[in-house]
Amino acid sequence: MVKIKVPRNGAYQPLSRRHSRNLVYALIAGLVIGLYYLCNGPIDPFAVSFEEHQAYMNDRAHVDGFLAKGSYDWRKAPFHNKPESFTPLPAGKPRTLPPIQFTFTDESKSRKDMRERYRVAVRNEFERNWNSYKRWAWTRDELMPVTAKGVDPFGGWGATLVDSLDSLWIMGFKDDFYEAVAAVAAIDFGKSEMTTISVFETTIRYLGGLLSAYDLSHEKVMLDKAIQLGEMLYRAFDTTNHMPLDRLAIDLAKKNFGVGFTADSSICFAGLGSLTMEFVRLAQITQQPKYYDAVARVTDLFDRVQNSTRIPGLFPTWANAYQQDLSYDRSFTLGAMADSSYEYFPKTFALLGGLEPVYEKLYKESASMIDAHMLFRPMLPDGEPGEDILYCGDVHASDPESISLDPEMQHLTCFVGGFFALAGRIFKNDRHVDLGAKLTEGCIYAYHSMPTGIMPEIFNVVPCKSRSTCPWNQTIYEEHVLNRATQYDGDFKAAMEELKLPKGFTSIRDRRYLLRPEAIESVFIMYRVTGNEEYLEHAWDMFTSIRKYSTTRYANGQVLDVLDISEDSEPEDKMESFWLAETLKYFYLIFSPPDMISLDEWVFNTEAHPFRRPKWIKLEG
Ligand SMILES: *[C@@H]1O[C@H](CO)[C@@H](O)[C@H](O)[C@H]1NC(C)=O
Ligand SMILES: *[C@@H]1O[C@H](CO)[C@@H](O)[C@H](O)[C@H]1NC(C)=O
Repeated sequence: MVKIKVPRNGAYQPLSRRHSRNLVYALIAGLVIGLYYLCNGPIDPFAVSFEEHQAYMNDRAHVDGFLAKGSYDWRKAPFHNKPESFTPLPAGKPRTLPPIQFTFTDESKSRKDMRERYRVAVRNEFERNWNSYKRWAWTRDELMPVTAKGVDPFGGWGATLVDSLDSLWIMGFKDDFYEAVAAVAAIDFGKSEMTTISVFETTIRYLGGLLSAYDLSHEKVMLDKAIQLGEMLYRAFDTTNHMPLDRLAIDLAKKNFGVGFTADSSICFAGLGSLTMEFVRLAQITQQPKYYDAVARVTDLFDRVQNSTRIPGLFPTWANAYQQDLSYDRSFTLGAMADSSYEYFPKTFALLGGLEPVYEKLYKESASMIDAHMLFRPMLPDGEPGEDILYCGDVHASDPESISLDPEMQHLTCFVGGFFALAGRIFKNDRHVDLGAKLTEGCIYAYHSMPTGIMPEIFNVVPCKSRSTCPWNQTIYEEHVLNRATQYDGDFKAAMEELKLPKGFTSIRDRRYLLRPEAIESVFIMYRVTGNEEYLEHAWDMFTSIRKYSTTRYANGQVLDVLDISEDSEPEDKMESFWLAETLKYFYLIFSPPDMISLDEWVFNTEAHPFRRPKWIKLEG
């Protein structure tokens, strides 16, 4: 095995044949690469197939043998509310689901050169960040990108380290990947400086990251760590009615009180329903039905109550898990606090090989209500591509007759474009693919409309009454702006002078960009689903804008104001682990050959960790 380095961009050619001839090959290849490099600049000449990449990354002595047991064995922790029987994993041969990806044909040389240049630029950005993380915040949860310090808001087990494992693997950073694997093997999940941890965040970032690293590398120590952590997180289901807790008290969970916990009387919908993919995958790999049973009970609850919420079909933002009641809250969103539970309906369906129809039912009934009540066309200035654009707002309702739309769009909600497109393919619904395209277009439009070229965290627009025609009406626009900016006392001119709103936007409630992935996530999925090359250009525009305004000396930080293009504006000293785990991964993948993590073979959890879709689910063991 020889690793051939291309100057500067660190690209490689995987060679897996006979070692004795490798030196000669290496010399020839080096010469060829050198010549290519001289003629073409820093473009990676070896866009390899996924299989070659996999062979290169995984051809290595395994690093097991140094698994840290940790200061506490979570398998021995008490579990009081053991169900009488476990719901088994659906058995049988997975269904052949419809193809998700567009059938890509050979690309032209100029197209390939461009795509490769973009891909290498993203890879370089990741590498710069990773080197800073290694140097200044190694094994800490986050690197502070301005002051180069470490900080631990996620249990202190190295959130960025674990969250980045699969990005390292996918981007071909072989040495860094195995260095990270060794550091992850040494994590002590037995203790934390924090007294309670978020079950949701720990599941999607850590457990998702470990399972994905295992699925990609088959490195057994990653599975061992996933089980160590999974056993801890499984304690969140030790409640009298088996509903998971929002936060788990680490030390309490180790002590034997004889009763377990009581489920939360108030937990957000995302906290209840976004553990599903991770526990399903853990159950599939370990063949332990208890992990599947834990989340299947939550799914059962959703199934039972879906038709008795304030808007039947939809799930409200807040739930009473103790009383298993989702009928009291009147607010509905696809943004913060709810998003990923909806996202997991079609994705879990795919992860289970189409063998559990309840996820199809949950998707179809919620999606039709999202379409009917939450999706809307924004009123845009004449000449803008209005009918190609949709946004997804929040609604409030005490009953289906009194639904009111709040036309507020969050960056988090930008995932819905990819969500509809992916589900549209899985369930053979072209209309949903089309909705996905329009929703994605809405986020692209919001990026383009801001002076920095970056969409803000939260903004508002005027919703059109109709999706087919919607002429610009200045009177209505001014009313909407002034209703949200009451401090200007009806003075529209004064309001606009100060707020500097791009025309069509009625307020920007949160002007920050937090390095979030949802927009590029949908652009990536749309590209893989449709093959439309315009998405590559949009992705590149988004990437260069984000890079321009978020770059710090060491890494990338949150942008404080996407309307501010002044030279002296500095990013915030904050970089969440999803920047390396999700945002840069999706940017990298859209510029990669489309068989790199094909959506027909993999399904991403909500933290962009790809899980293997099953070819065959074994009978319950
Ligand atoms: C939900 O309730 C409505 C009436 O309230 C009924 O028409 C519909 O069939 C129900 N759907 C399901 C799946 O039970
Ligand atoms: C704009 O909206 C206002 C208020 O609804 C209405 O009175 C007016 O006729 C509209 N203008 C046009 C040109 O449609």
